[in-house]
Amino acid sequence: MYVNVAVLKETQSHEKRVALVPSVIPKLIKLGAKLHMQSGAGDAIKLEDAVFKDVECIDDRARLVADADVVLSVQPPAIEVVSAMKEGAILISFIYADKQHALVKKLLEKKITCFAMERIPRITRAQSMDALSSQSALAGYYAVQLGATHLARILPKITTAAGAIGPAKVLVMGLGVAGLEAIATAHRLGAVVEGYDVRPETEEQALSLGATFVETGVDARGKGGYARELTPEEKKKVADVLTKHIQQSDLIITTASIPGHKSPILISKAQIAGMKSGAVIVDLSAEGGGNCEGTEPGKTAEIGLITIVAPLNIPSLLGEDASELYAKNQYNLLALMMKDNVITLNWDDEVLAKTVLTHAGKLSHDDVSKTPEKPAKKVA
Ligand SMILES: NC(=O)c1ccc[n+]([C@@H]2O[C@H](COP(=O)([O-])OP(=O)(O)OC[C@H]3O[C@@H](n4cnc5c(N)ncnc54)[C@H](O)[C@@H]3O)[C@@H](O)[C@H]2O)c1
Repeated sequence: MYVNVAVLKETQSHEKRVALVPSVIPKLIKLGAKLHMQSGAGDAIKLEDAVFKDVECIDDRARLVADADVVLSVQPPAIEVVSAMKEGAILISFIYADKQHALVKKLLEKKITCFAMERIPRITRAQSMDALSSQSALAGYYAVQLGATHLARILPKITTAAGAIGPAKVLVMGLGVAGLEAIATAHRLGAVVEGYDVRPETEEQALSLGATFVETGVDARGKGGYARELTPEEKKKVADVLTKHIQQSDLIITTASIPGHKSPILISKAQIAGMKSGAVIVDLSAEGGGNCEGTEPGKTAEIGLITIVAPLNIPSLLGEDASELYAKNQYNLLALMMKDNVITLNWDDEVLAKTVLTHAGKLSHDDVSKTPEKPAKKVA
């Protein structure tokens, strides 16, 4: 007996990641998986079918998923894929259910047990499965590289026979996983780094990575370790302190987000107008609308002499490493439910109970049940 696992080729434009990499294959087989993959699933990161040893490659995705006990993907799969899955099978993927009503409806209809990767709880035991963190860490690193290539100056101090050049000043706003990785990267590259966040506990983290912390006196700790939205008075207080730091920086990386809300605006047009000429902002919050007035999600915008770079889906731009980490995150989640060649879903396990989105035709996601299109009974 074994568990049939099928890995999809991603179809969304600009998505280069794949949910299986060769290093994870032996581990999945050891758990009892028989592996199948859609032909060409690794092409975008230059992993040809032949390097996926012990994996059967199948062209037709309906045939691929028809017998699968578990289907793995990065982005939410097409509805036709779920239609082709057998009733009661398991899907593990990013889903973002509040934007995927039709898909969720189909998951319920087919009684699919769907584990949504963005729902992995942010607890210590689940860190090895936390794909939001693994992908954000890569994005934080990449933001610095991207910023550096858009600057007409270097980050470290350099001394030549003709004279010395001082280090660039980098300000990182929003010190979650991506922001802290951006601080570490900018510091390693020799910049003078400042960090800012509305959660005061990030001060110590920023200091430990070599940055100084911009203290605004506003504490906006929200639920579950995330930030809450600021009041208008708090926004003004913060802006008064931050303006000087924003306007002295050569490179600013913004990463601020509040779950379920549009990205907060951290940099106004007026603040941008006073920035150093040639300065660059890399806005990692473009998916949620951006942290700057003037951010154009997915584009690079020039506002006067300032450049705002706002790429979308950054982990995909680092598809090789992002796939490696994502596949390991999924393996670690699967290891919670697969043993001795069978799947056992233990709903007393907090990680499984919080990550599940649909099971046996029921929904466990409050956000979706609140929307008008969504009927749904909750998982008991
Ligand atoms: N397993 C774990 O224990 C674990 C793993 C990862 C993250 N976490 C925690 O989860 C939380 C969220 O991390 P994330 O990387 O997903 O963050 P996120 O992407 O939700 O937000 C990025 C940062 O933006 C900040 N922010 C929000 N509004 C802001 C504003 N107006 N001004 C400045 N900054 C603002 C947030 O405080 C956060 O630090 C953090 O507390 C993090 O430490 C825990």
